[in-house]
Amino acid sequence: MANYILFGAQWGDEGKGKIVDMLSHELDYVARYQGGNNAGHTVIVGDEKHILHIIPSGILHDNTKCIIGNGVVLDPFVFLNEITQLTKRGIDASAKRIQISYNTHIIMEYHKILDIAREGKLADTKIGTTGRGIGPCYEDKKARIGIRAGDLLDLSIVRKKIDNALTEKNVLIESLYGGKALDAQEIFDKLSEIVPTLLPYLDDTNSILQDAVKAGKSILFEGAQGIMLDIDHGTYPYVTSSNTVSDNASIGTGVPSCFVDKRLAVVKAYTTRVGSGPFPTELNDETGSHLQKIGHEFGATTGRTRRCGWLDAVVLRETARLCSPTDIALTKLDVLTGLDELKIAVKYRYEGKEMLYPPQIPNAMEKAEPIYETWDGWKEDISQCKKFEELPKNTQNYVKRIAELMNAKITLVSVGPDRDQTILID
Ligand code: GDP
Ligand code: IMO
Ligand code: MG
Repeated sequence: MANYILFGAQWGDEGKGKIVDMLSHELDYVARYQGGNNAGHTVIVGDEKHILHIIPSGILHDNTKCIIGNGVVLDPFVFLNEITQLTKRGIDASAKRIQISYNTHIIMEYHKILDIAREGKLADTKIGTTGRGIGPCYEDKKARIGIRAGDLLDLSIVRKKIDNALTEKNVLIESLYGGKALDAQEIFDKLSEIVPTLLPYLDDTNSILQDAVKAGKSILFEGAQGIMLDIDHGTYPYVTSSNTVSDNASIGTGVPSCFVDKRLAVVKAYTTRVGSGPFPTELNDETGSHLQKIGHEFGATTGRTRRCGWLDAVVLRETARLCSPTDIALTKLDVLTGLDELKIAVKYRYEGKEMLYPPQIPNAMEKAEPIYETWDGWKEDISQCKKFEELPKNTQNYVKRIAELMNAKITLVSVGPDRDQTILID
């Protein structure tokens, strides 16, 4: 099987977890390349619901190995908790199946405190982060003061790094945010306690993946979040702190992109967003509430209600030009069943001009107005359809239009959360 990069085409929660799980039975490795436990991927297997925040969604298939790449930021406590939860359910989550790069950065207690404190201080410019310490951890990485997983091999290095970090962070925590200074020894002791459990999971994941490529094994690079949350190309500042674009799979794992055969965009059949930021097709009306209710649009990480709106092809076009998808997996199509008509934003109007792509000037997207085309809806239950031809004509037309707007093939259509509620095309 080919090597894939899979990524969310919108603002996250497109249903990536389900698709990774669907593909995993044919894969040797699933590798995360960015983000951390800000992600929440729900996978339904029979009667069981799994929510994965940091371990790749490939873990639910026995033969698949999971890699946490150098581009990820890892909260070791959340990681070990997830291991415990999986083990309780009879899933092998041992170090035989999961490896963390020595170069993965560690999310520390002070990252979480700073993330929450900063958000608390911002009044109407809150990003609405997940509060998991993602931004502050990536900040330390770029400032070259972060603690990497490999540092855990020598705890004296960790101790020094915590001391150095707190010299700076305690000033912020106490003087700027009015919090209580953190104790370096306490943080060190808490971390040291779990280090022996963590160490077997650490490895040179770059070599593991490079060897896998040479041996002709198949790898899926699992993106978290969505392209509109990319730190460079998304709706800055309402973004996450990593690059979510597909080419970052290479940087976040060390595997050059020439070894990747396919780029699979996961597209939700409508749009959702958690947290603040522009959302031109947002529906603050009954239809929005309907999508929210039928689609169970609550955040898997924070439980927040997801904002809902029509499909935005301007966003999808931007994603397509940034990531050039070879394939599309279209998800949650069943949620649109019963609506009389469906709208797709095909352009924006911005300062009197019609635009095919989001305006690139800072903060301009807030002022962009969607220009819609309208499609007839369908009433038939599609959740048990197994072939594209079984879908009602109006559903087929909607699907074909999305492929046309993104200029890529739709090779998978998801009509429900279960593994078998999936239509494979070609
Ligand atoms: P991710 O972060 O991209 O993996 O997506 P989430 O797991 O956060 O959110 C997607 C939600 O939709 C999950 O609860 C999935 O179980 C569910 N889901 C995935 N595909 C479908 C689908 O085709 N139809 C419906 N109704 N639900 C789906
Ligand atoms: P998955 O992988 C949806 C959003 C947050 C916030 C912004 C910044 O499940 O699709 P952060 O904590 O990353 O600094 O928050 O990014 N966000 C997500 N939204 N799905 C996600 O992940 C997200 N991860 C972060 O809501 O607006
Ligand atoms: Mg999610």
